[in-house]
Amino acid sequence: MKGTIIYPGTFDPVTNGHTDIVARAALIFDRVIVGVAASTAKATAFSADERVALARDVLSPFSNVEVQRFEGLLADFARQVGATLLLRGLRAVSDFEMEFQMASMNRKLIPEADTIFLTPAEQYSYISSSLVREIAALGGDVSAFVDKRVLAALRERWR
Ligand code: COA
Repeated sequence: MKGTIIYPGTFDPVTNGHTDIVARAALIFDRVIVGVAASTAKATAFSADERVALARDVLSPFSNVEVQRFEGLLADFARQVGATLLLRGLRAVSDFEMEFQMASMNRKLIPEADTIFLTPAEQYSYISSSLVREIAALGGDVSAFVDKRVLAALRERWR
């Protein structure tokens, strides 16, 4: 499909579930921008630059995918890069309410853009970055959920 789609998130850190969504999007859309939100209300384990670097490393096999950091509103970033499509992953019904609210709010902020949803493979439907961080911090094995480079970064963080 022609055009640019933005897949925004915190990516603290990027997980195999995120990669699964990116892989699906890369097959459908000409250009996929993974937008790493620099400022977030969440207390992150990795800095914005670290989150971008990890996502770039992990997603480098996809030739039509680029990782960009953005500050401020997603709507402004979308205008800046000329994207009229936003992508979000839906893992379970529990994601829907928040996603519906965000999509509706973004429609107000950037009426020319639409939000599209993809679902990850079911083995990724229960992964979240915060669970990965918590398990890694407590010495648990998260190798099934993240790329080996992310695993190394997590080990380094909680060494
Ligand atoms: N696989 C695994 N985990 C996934 C996933 C998938 N496919 N999709 C989402 N998640 C997880 C994330 O890991 C994250 O887990 P955590 O909260 O436990 O750490 C959670 O689902 C949600 O994360 P994410 O998809 O990264 O969204 P977010 O809520 O962190 O990001 C932004 C939201 C950054 C997109 C949003 O806040 C934003 O647009 N900010 C910019 C400012 C703005 O425009 N605000 C107004 C918005 S209307």
